[in-house]
Amino acid sequence: MSRPIRATVDPAAFAHNLALARRHAGAARILAVLKANAYGHGLDRLLPVARAADGIAVLEMEAAVRLRDNGYQGPVVLLEGCFGAAEQGEALRLGVTPVVHVAEQLEALLHARGGRPGEVWLKLNSGMNRLGFRLPAFQEAQQRLESAGWSGKITRMTHFANADDSHGVAEQLAVVQAAGAGPWSLANSAALLRYPASRAEWVRPGIMLYGATPFADQSALALGLRPVMALTSQVIAVQTLAAGESVGYGWTFTAREATRVGIVACGYADGYPRLAPTGTPVAVDGVRTRTLGRVSMDMLYVDLTNVPGAGVGSPVELWGPTVPVDAVAAPAGTVGYELLCALAPRVPVLVRTGEAAPAS
Ligand SMILES: Cc1ncc(COP(=O)(O)O)c(C=O)c1O
Repeated sequence: MSRPIRATVDPAAFAHNLALARRHAGAARILAVLKANAYGHGLDRLLPVARAADGIAVLEMEAAVRLRDNGYQGPVVLLEGCFGAAEQGEALRLGVTPVVHVAEQLEALLHARGGRPGEVWLKLNSGMNRLGFRLPAFQEAQQRLESAGWSGKITRMTHFANADDSHGVAEQLAVVQAAGAGPWSLANSAALLRYPASRAEWVRPGIMLYGATPFADQSALALGLRPVMALTSQVIAVQTLAAGESVGYGWTFTAREATRVGIVACGYADGYPRLAPTGTPVAVDGVRTRTLGRVSMDMLYVDLTNVPGAGVGSPVELWGPTVPVDAVAAPAGTVGYELLCALAPRVPVLVRTGEAAPAS
């Protein structure tokens, strides 16, 4: 028997979340965001269900090549565009759609050799001030592409900085309107869920497809989402602390009364956040309880007071259907996105069918 930690990826949950995104999207097409190895879940594992989207967004050309190698013929958008002129030619040859967000990429595309003009996504900086052309450089870039043969092949895009909080999208939408007619792609998960006016021609949901919430004030469950990843392990030892005794590095938790503590085979080297404090939710034998003390590299500690039958070998859910990943992220001062993406390579991954999945 191997160390008992596992991540289980549930493609059916992804399919459910994609169908929910489809209902919110109305007539808009869905570009499923599968960057960062499908937010830590494995691009190859989720591709079979992601095919139901209208296109797939990734970051690196290598990921785009993998999609094509796996027989995916649909639209593939490179969200940071091409890195260097050679990649522009490769994008044309592979029929992969680069984002163009900066003057250097525009020049490289206009001078790329590798075939006739293909689809391109031109990025407007509408206020996030991360990537994209401001007005009027955006319109100038558009005109140059149109006169060089890209007419009818340009999708305009922008990205919202505050769709998930009370600031909203109104200011950035006003900039989009000033930038002119589409087709446009604007909405991430948060905008898709809260601002129907931002749907436009293409939406770009990411986090909601994995069953986590983009919002601090609304849970994934309340949004009707199902978690795609479960991180599970087992209790590998039990300690009974006397009142006044502590557990783990720094003795940050001290028992007020005799306390049974489960030692769990999961630590920050598995991707569990070290900053998760005492009280972070966890489930043992299907019962919600809490972590105790400081997370160490390979182990963390859980309160077995409410789970008297638990002992060595008891199953532990670190996150998944019983403990939402967002409920672990919040007390650790982060978001579900980060925990999913940070799943460590040493954690074996199973797909929900029960078969072992290839490393990816
Ligand atoms: C350009 C772009 N579009 C869409 C998304 C998807 O966002 P979310 O995961 O919040 O839905 C991302 C992710 O950060 C992104 O960078």
